[in-house]
Formats: sequence, structure tokens, C-alpha cells
Amino acid sequence: MKNKITPTASERKMRDNDFIVSKTDTTGRLTYANSVFYEFAGYDETQSLGQQHNLIRHPDMPRSVFKLLWDTISSGSEFNGYVKNLSSNGGFYWVFANVTPSYDQQNNIIGYYSVRRKPSEAALNIVSPIYEEMLSAEKNAGSRNAISAGSTVLSDKLQQAEINYEKFVLSI
Ligand SMILES: Cc1cc2nc3c(=O)[nH]c(=O)nc-3n(C[C@H](O)[C@H](O)[C@H](O)COP(=O)(O)O)c2cc1C
Repeated sequence: MKNKITPTASERKMRDNDFIVSKTDTTGRLTYANSVFYEFAGYDETQSLGQQHNLIRHPDMPRSVFKLLWDTISSGSEFNGYVKNLSSNGGFYWVFANVTPSYDQQNNIIGYYSVRRKPSEAALNIVSPIYEEMLSAEKNAGSRNAISAGSTVLSDKLQQAEINYEKFVLSI
């Protein structure tokens, strides 16, 4: 189920002490969300659980960011990143997300867990223009080459600044 939602310019900001929590299975299907998730996403439990997490994907987000997210967590590492999400009413909300794999006793990944907090304005002022550049590179490259074009924009910037992604994202 992915309804066509028309994005609007209406922004909702997280409060200082908010935590938006969700859990997924290994394919990204929602298995749990907390009440703050439902509040910001604008869906209730029956509309969310069992759906793919891209339910709240915003079209302004570069595909290459989600590629990085999935590459990172499926290899067993934790991912930190800024994400612009789409609410059911078309509005948006920015989060600073931490995503980690969950393991069973045999050390197999059985799902993923994400906790998001309010991002600083300073960080968003750095990240938003980078995402815009990545998105435009993706669009210009066409669907087949989009992810590599977006990833190249990011890796070039990180290389110029002589910093890796993880250090960069935790430093802003
Ligand atoms: C635990 C977890 C949390 C996620 N949180 C978000 C999120 O808040 N917003 C989002 O757009 N995608 C999130 N994703 C990524 C989505 O699964 C998906 O890759 C993304 O929305 C892009 O959609 P697509 O893969 O259909 O292109 C999350 C994935 C996992 C495993």
C-alpha cells in the first residue's frame, strides 16, 4: 500500500525530547512503532505495521542515501543519517536517525531498529544542499545510474573534506 501523496511545504518539527522509534523485519517491513512515530507519520498501527518503511519516504530524499543505509546495516554496522520524511498529509519532518541491526542468539540479523531524534538546524543547513545536489545528480543520470551518480556526489565531497561519512555525520 503506497498512496500517492502530494508533498507540501508544511514542516513539522520534532520536540527536544522526542524519540521516534520503529522496528522492521530484515526486508524493511514495519513490525513496531512508538506513538511519536504514529504522530509524525500520520498513520495508525493498522495502516503501518506490515508495510514497507518506505511508507514515509519523501521524494526529496536521494536514493543513494538509502543505498548507504541498507549497505551499512545489512553488513552488521550501525547507520547514522539525516532523513526528510513524508507525513500522510503531505507535510514533512526532518529526523536524525540511528539504525542498528538486531541479532538472534546465533548472531543472525533478524531485523532492524531505528531511533530518531530532533536534528539541529545547523546540521540541516549543511545536509539539505548536499541532498539537493545528490538528488539532482540522480535525476540527471537516469534511473539505471542514479544511485552511483548520487553516491559519487557524496563521496567526492567527503574526499575533498578528508573525512569519512560516519565521522562527517556525527560531527555536524
Ligand atoms: C529500521 C529502518 C528504519 C528506516 N527508517 C526510514 C525512514 O524513517 N524514512 C525512510 O524514508 N526510510 C526509512 N528506511 C528505509 C526504507 O526501508 C527504504 O529503503 C527507503 O524509504 C527508500 O525506499 P525504497 O527502498 O523503496 O526506494 C528505514 C529502514 C529501516 C531498516
